[in-house]
Amino acid sequence: MRLSLRFIVPLAMALAAIAWAVVPLVDQLTLRWFVRDLDIRGELIANAMRERVIDLVQEASRTRVERYFAIVSQDERLYALGFCQPSGRLAYRTPAFPDNIDCPSPATGGPELGKARSRVFTYHGGPLHVVLQPIAVDAQEIGRLAIVHDMSFAQRRSDDTKRFVYIFFVGLAAVVSLITVIIAELSWRGWMAGLRAILTGESPRNTTVARPSRELRPFARDLQLLLREIEAERAYRDEERMSWTAEALRNILTQELKGDEVLIVSNREPYTHTRRGNVIEVQRPASGLVTALEPVMRACSGTWIAHGSGSADRDTVDRHDRVMVPPDNPAYRIRRVWLSKEEETGYYYGFANEGLWPLCHIAHTRPTFRAPDWEHYRAVNERFAEVVVQEARTEDPIVLVQDYHFALLPRMIRERLPRATIITFWHIPWPNPETFGICPWREEILSGMLGSSILGFHTQVHCNNFFDTVDRYLEARVDRDAFSISLGGEVTEVHRYPISIEWPPSALAEVASRAVCRETIRRELGYAPDVMLGVGVDRLDYTKGILERFRAVERFFELEPRWVGRFGFVQIAAPSRSSIEEYQEFEARVRAEAARINARYGSVGYQPIVLRVEHHDAASVHCHYRACDLCFVSSLHDGMNLVAKEFIAAREDGEGVLLLSQFAGAARELTEALIVNPYDVEQCAVALAAALAMPVEEQRARMKNMRALVQEFNVYRWAGRMLLDAARMRARRRIEARAATRAAA
Ligand code: F6P
Repeated sequence: MRLSLRFIVPLAMALAAIAWAVVPLVDQLTLRWFVRDLDIRGELIANAMRERVIDLVQEASRTRVERYFAIVSQDERLYALGFCQPSGRLAYRTPAFPDNIDCPSPATGGPELGKARSRVFTYHGGPLHVVLQPIAVDAQEIGRLAIVHDMSFAQRRSDDTKRFVYIFFVGLAAVVSLITVIIAELSWRGWMAGLRAILTGESPRNTTVARPSRELRPFARDLQLLLREIEAERAYRDEERMSWTAEALRNILTQELKGDEVLIVSNREPYTHTRRGNVIEVQRPASGLVTALEPVMRACSGTWIAHGSGSADRDTVDRHDRVMVPPDNPAYRIRRVWLSKEEETGYYYGFANEGLWPLCHIAHTRPTFRAPDWEHYRAVNERFAEVVVQEARTEDPIVLVQDYHFALLPRMIRERLPRATIITFWHIPWPNPETFGICPWREEILSGMLGSSILGFHTQVHCNNFFDTVDRYLEARVDRDAFSISLGGEVTEVHRYPISIEWPPSALAEVASRAVCRETIRRELGYAPDVMLGVGVDRLDYTKGILERFRAVERFFELEPRWVGRFGFVQIAAPSRSSIEEYQEFEARVRAEAARINARYGSVGYQPIVLRVEHHDAASVHCHYRACDLCFVSSLHDGMNLVAKEFIAAREDGEGVLLLSQFAGAARELTEALIVNPYDVEQCAVALAAALAMPVEEQRARMKNMRALVQEFNVYRWAGRMLLDAARMRARRRIEARAATRAAA
C-alpha cells in the first residue's frame, strides 16, 4: 500500500501540474482560432456589403443605410454595424452599436486603405469583436465599416473545452495510476519472491520457484553467503556443545529462541494419577516417548498437553485442567484433555492403534480401518488443536507434536496459529508408499502432517519412505536435496532426528549398585546367585518380537543344553492397549509360549523364562538392567527402541552384552551390539551363546563405544537439534520480514 502511494502521489501531482499549465494554453489557442475566424468572417461580410454601402452612403440617406444595417445584423452572431466617416465620426449605426468603439483614421492609428483591422474588447461585461474595414471609391476612402460580433459563444466553447481538458487529464491520471499500481505490485511480488528464493536458497532450476529478479542478482550471492555464514556459525556453536545436557538445552531456549514458548502435544501424559482405595498414586507410563520428552520438558518448563487417562487425573487438576509436575519437584505443567470412552475407543484404540500402528510397522498384523474410528480421530485432533490455542500465550509458539496419534493436528494448528513453529516427530517407522497407500485417508493424513514446519523421523530410511509416499499421493514438490516438501506454497523440512535418552538417566539415582541389583533380582526371580541372566523389557506388543525371543532361548538350550539351569531369562512386559483383541491374543500367546518352554526346560525351583506382565517403575527396570548379563531387544520393526539405550546407560560398570534386532532404528547407531535378525531363530540362539561366552574385555570395549555414543547423542541433543532447526527457521523468517519491511519503507 505504502509502495503504491509512493507511485500515485507524485504521479497525480505531475498530472495536476500538467493540467494547470495546459488548460490556459488550450484556452488561449481556441480563443485565437475564434478571433481569426471572426476576422475572416468580418472581412467577408464587409466585402459582401461594400457595393451596397457605397451606394447608400453616396445617397446619404440615413434611413436607408440604417435599414440596410438592420437587415444584415439579423445574423445571430452579428451584434452591431456602424459606419465611420474618414474623420472618425460615427455616421451610421445600428442601435446596439457600442459607445466605446472609436473609428480612428489612418493618420490617428486607424487601418490603412485596403487593410482591415480587428480587436476584441469588453462591453457590458461581455466580449465583443470588431472589424474595421476601410471602404474606398476610386482609391479614395469614404469611410470605415465597423462589423461587431458577439463573442460570448467563444467564451462558452472555451469553458466547455476547459472542462473537457480537465476531465481528460483526471481520467488519464486515474488510468496511468492504476496501471502503475498494478505494475508496481507485480514487480514487488516478483521482487519479494526473488528475495525469498535467495533467503530460502531454493533451487532456481525448479521452474515453479521464483528466480531472484535482475536487480537482486548482484547481491543475491552476498545474501546467500551471509545466511550460510550465520548457519555455519550456528552449526559450529552447536558442534561446540560437545556435551549435551539439560543446561545446554536451556541455553538454546534462552539464547537461540529468546525464551520462546514451548508446548508439547502427545497422547500419553508423562504422569498419571491413579486411585488405589483411598490413596492416589502417581505413575510414569511405560512409553519411549515419555522417557525421551520428560527430561526435555523439565529443562524448558513449558506446557505438555496430553490425554488425561488416569483414574484420579480429574481429582488432581486445577480449574483449568492443569497440574504441575514432577510431583516432588514441579518444573512444568500438564494440561489434561478429557476424552469420552467412545472417543478413546475410536481415536486411540481404533484408528491410531488398530489402523496406523500395524500399518507403519512391518509386523504382519493386518491394519483395520473403520470410518467411525477415523471420525473420532479427526474430532480428537480438532479438540487438541483448540487446546493448543487456549494454552498458547503468544501467536508464534513452538509446538512439538508427538506421534501417529496426531497426524492431522499440525495442519489444524497451522490454520489457527499461522505463525507457530510446528515440529512434528513421528516416533514409529514410516512404511513404503505401497504399504501406506492402503489407508483410505492417506491424502488427509499426509496433508495434515505437512502443516508442520519441521517433520522428524528416527532414520533416513523413514524420511525417504515419507518423501516417496508424498511424491506418490500428493501434488506436492518434493526436494530431497533440500530435505523439504512444499505443498500449496508452504514448506515443510523433513529431517532425521534419532531419539535418545537423558544422560545420565535420572532414574539411576535411585538404583542400587550392580552387585546389589545382581543379588536382589536373582533372589526375586528364584535364581541361584551364579545363574547368568538375560533380560527383555517391553510393552506387551506384537511388534516387539517377544515370541521370537522366547524361541531363541529355547533353541539356545537345544544347541547348548549345558546352560539349562545356569541361564535364566526375565521378560518384563508392561500391559499395553489391552482393550484391543489383537493385544489380548498376543498376551495369551506369550504366556503360553513361556509356559511351554518352562515346561520343557524348567525344574523345581528353576524356570528358564520368568514372564512378569505388570508395570515396573523406572528404578526397578534399571535395576534389572544392572543385574543382567545380557539384554535382548528383538523388535520385528521399531522406530528406535530406547530400551537398548537405557540398558547401555545403566551399565556404568562397562559390562554386559546387548543383542539388538536389525529392524530397530537403534541398530544403525549401536553397531557394537550383537545385531540379529529376530526372524532367524538359529542366528539368535547362536548370538545368545556368543553373548554368554563373551570375554569381559570385549564386553567392556563394545560397551565403552556404545556408552560414548549414547552419552553424546542423548535426548538433549535430539531435542536441541530440532529446536536449533526451529530457531534457524524463525531467524530466517525474521530476516525475511525485516527485508520486506525495509523494502516497503
Ligand atoms: O512407539 C510409539 C509410542 O508412542 C512410543 O513412543 C511409546 O513408547 C509407545 O508408543 C506408547 O504406547 P501407548 O501410549 O499406546 O501406551
